[in-house]
Amino acid sequence: MASRFKLWSPMLLLILLFLNVSELATASLRVGYYKHSCPSAEAIVKKAVQKAVSRNPGLGAGIIRMHFHDCFVRGCDASILLDSTPGRRSEKAHPANNPSLRGFEVIDEAKAELEAACPNTVSCADIIAFAARDSAYKLGTIHYTVPSGRRDGKISLENDVTKNLPPPSLNAKQLEQNFERKGLSLEEMVTLSGAHSIGISHCSSFSNRLYSFNSTHNQDPSMDSNFAKEMRNKCPKNAANGDHIVPLDLVTPNRLDNKYYLNLKNRRGLLTSDQTLLSSRSTGWMVRRNAKRSGSSWANEFADAMVKMGYIDVLTGNQGEIRKNCKVVN
Ligand code: HEM
Ligand SMILES: *[C@@H]1O[C@H](CO)[C@@H](O)[C@H](O)[C@H]1NC(C)=O
Repeated sequence: MASRFKLWSPMLLLILLFLNVSELATASLRVGYYKHSCPSAEAIVKKAVQKAVSRNPGLGAGIIRMHFHDCFVRGCDASILLDSTPGRRSEKAHPANNPSLRGFEVIDEAKAELEAACPNTVSCADIIAFAARDSAYKLGTIHYTVPSGRRDGKISLENDVTKNLPPPSLNAKQLEQNFERKGLSLEEMVTLSGAHSIGISHCSSFSNRLYSFNSTHNQDPSMDSNFAKEMRNKCPKNAANGDHIVPLDLVTPNRLDNKYYLNLKNRRGLLTSDQTLLSSRSTGWMVRRNAKRSGSSWANEFADAMVKMGYIDVLTGNQGEIRKNCKVVN
């Protein structure tokens, strides 16, 4: 027995080592993870998304943004979905998410149906990743498969959002550094920013560019002056009736496509973090290339970048849990 073990142990060690290394390399998510445990999982999510997004395309934009906000803060672990608890404000409460982040009800509906079909099986983190993919399909006919097997986190802190999510005031260099910390390249950052070809922004996210840019310029000179005039009309300076909203892409507001880059080229990007991608030498050429190439070339890269974003700091195996209700830990 002892000698047999001696013979086997180096081999076992090698096998264990190999398993560990390959697990690190792929972080152990895989396409079709629920194939046996919950065969209808992805179809259930898809149906909920299709129903909701047909009624209100803005919900699809919200869900794609939700996946980004989830993954950049504590990894793709559905920490974005946890409600604040007494004495502890969660990510949801941060001004970057509240009140603008939308689509929560779609995730909740899918989760309720999944709990009925296969209880305690499908994580909220995977539901967000599937739903973002289904939204990209619905709004941009962008196809991709989503590796799954994520587990749900148990912690969500408002302050983590400030430290990890880029604000719209950043320049290209700062955005590059922010994405690099999450393992995403400069090019992936530019590609993913194309998500701003759908959805809306509140005026407060960019009104400094219209009224109070810096001490020598009230208006951001990198913004087309006709566009700025249009935006000042839509975003009155001291709006009595609250924070107005405008489409991020005035040309095709509900179509996830590469028109975003054309807008930037025409100096009609809404956020500082959008227009800076044209102004910066390191990214300007990528913007111009995405503006003139076929929509499908950009779409393929967008799909790949979404999959990569979906791997950020995921919990797998016996880490975390499978939440029963996406809003609270078990
Ligand atoms: C590059 C850094 C980014 C910054 C600074 C940024 C910032 C913002 C801001 C300020 C808004 C408007 C929020 C509001 O005022 O209502 C917004 C909207 C949005 N963002 Fe981003 N974002 C970034 C990257 C991304 C990425 C990577 C994605 C997804 C892949 C994304 C998807 C969206 C979508 C879809 C909307 C519209 C949401 C809706 O209509 O509800 N953004 N973003
Ligand atoms: C204000 O912004 C413009 C355009 O970016 C720039 O040329 C100018 O130097 C800035 N002024 C100050 C005081 O920073």
